[in-house]
Amino acid sequence: MREKLALLERRAQEAEQGGGAARLEAQHAKGKLSARERLDVLLDPGSFVELDRFVVHRSTDFGLDEQRPYGDGVVTGHGRIDGRLVYVFSQDFTVFGGSLSEAVAEKICKVMDLAVRTGAPIVGLNDSGGARIQEGVVSLGGYADIFLRNTLASGVVPQISAVLGPCAGGAVYSPAITDFIYMVRGTSYMFVTGPNVVKTVTHEDVTMETLGGADTHASMSGVAHFSFDDEVACLRAIRDVFRFIPSNNLDEAPRGSGRDPADRREERLLDIVPDVETRPYDMHDILRLVIDDAEFYEVHRDYAANLIVSFAHLGGFSVGIVANQPAVLAGVLDINASRKGARFIRFCDAFNIPLVTFEDVPGFLPGVAQEHGGIIREGAKLLFAYCEATVPKLTVITRKAYGGAYDVMSSKHIRGDFNVAWPTAELAVMGPRGAADILFRKETADAPDPVAALDARIAEYREKFAHPYIAAGRGYLDDIIDPRDTRPRLIEALRALQGKRASNPAKKHGNIPL
Ligand code: HXC
Repeated sequence: MREKLALLERRAQEAEQGGGAARLEAQHAKGKLSARERLDVLLDPGSFVELDRFVVHRSTDFGLDEQRPYGDGVVTGHGRIDGRLVYVFSQDFTVFGGSLSEAVAEKICKVMDLAVRTGAPIVGLNDSGGARIQEGVVSLGGYADIFLRNTLASGVVPQISAVLGPCAGGAVYSPAITDFIYMVRGTSYMFVTGPNVVKTVTHEDVTMETLGGADTHASMSGVAHFSFDDEVACLRAIRDVFRFIPSNNLDEAPRGSGRDPADRREERLLDIVPDVETRPYDMHDILRLVIDDAEFYEVHRDYAANLIVSFAHLGGFSVGIVANQPAVLAGVLDINASRKGARFIRFCDAFNIPLVTFEDVPGFLPGVAQEHGGIIREGAKLLFAYCEATVPKLTVITRKAYGGAYDVMSSKHIRGDFNVAWPTAELAVMGPRGAADILFRKETADAPDPVAALDARIAEYREKFAHPYIAAGRGYLDDIIDPRDTRPRLIEALRALQGKRASNPAKKHGNIPL
């Protein structure tokens, strides 16, 4: 017995060594942690339970039969984040560059299947040179097995991807199907083909960082949702998101501390929206005063900043905030903002997180680039996402709710549950100046003083429509509220909506305009 136990211990130690000391050193020299060190930061201390540590690859070609490290290129298992069960895989770049063999794919699929079966989230730490070149099509099949599971698990359990190394080819498409992608500046890369292939095909010279680094994906392509300066910050941020999201689609989202008083009125909310309708302000200033402890978990912060999407707690409830940002592009809805909002809304709806919308929007962005880029289709995504969402939907209109954007931003007509406006709100087809210009341009042009005549018409339009009382008179708004009461009113509404039951007609699935 003791001899056999000693053998087990030897092999277990061997399994922990991955690709060996020299490769581990090279990994550290790049500022990267090892696969196991990453799990130590991600999971509660001592909670990791490894599975499949003795799995080896089955290849014999290209000398691979002489190298069969235990565990192959990935460490898999389960652990706890704040005591909650999560399944994990952590690719080991020191073993064949973390490349995906048949055995690696099987290990990853095993934990994905267990996660779905037990209703636990999956966190994947990706650091991989893609398909294991020596295995050929077997490796490609392994990727497809993972893609299928990513797709079937979507909307059932949260799937989170950290990209912590160079991820090319197949290695990017699994993260792309998951809910959130986290990257690290200087060490994370995602591209379908790297700079060398780009140079050959399109003759463009581009660095890894510019082509597919963390900032590129977090601010330009929108492929990544978060970017960080180092891996520890990145992994801690992943732990943090679990304070807001549930473990599966049948679970309730976790509650915040609830220490911030629910009846907190905020005098400062009276002084944020400028009197002049064209003057910008930072919507964060409003949100900060309303949510619990001024604490955001903002998603896609550096992408389409004209729309803010963020997790937060409100009266202890987890909520998804969607807010126009008048400080950027006047808060207009464009292609990127529409896509960003739609994806966040669909995540919240899939995982029972109520949506709280703060609205100050002058409309959709006009322009040739937007039209040719498909603002019609992209804006329709946002509309579709809001329409199909059945979680509690609360809306506060702080200022402008113009045109189609009024309909889109969780209006009463698309099943908003609690729709209120501040007295500063303006609900109209467009702003007073634009409206008067279209309706009265000819008439005022013939007036003795055209400018004064147009100004009079603008004032008339403003008086007639640039306020919330017509909408409130029709019940499109449930109330017009004192801004100072925003927090207590929202929390009361969230409490009242806890028992909400709503569903969509039975169907295979809708056809969101992709
Ligand atoms: C097998 C691989 C490998 C791979 C790297 N290695 N990628 N082994 N299959 N795909 C091995 C290297 O041989 C090396 O082994 C070790 O990992 C580290 O690699 P280096 O090149 O020394 O590291 P680095 O300089 O940091 O470069 C990392 C890299 C580069 C950028 C990832 O290795 C690379 O370009 N790899 C190939 C990427 C690729 O084209 N993959 C296929 C994508 S196609 P030793 O023994 O020296 O330590 C794909 C198809 C799926 O994935 C499509 C599904 C839709």
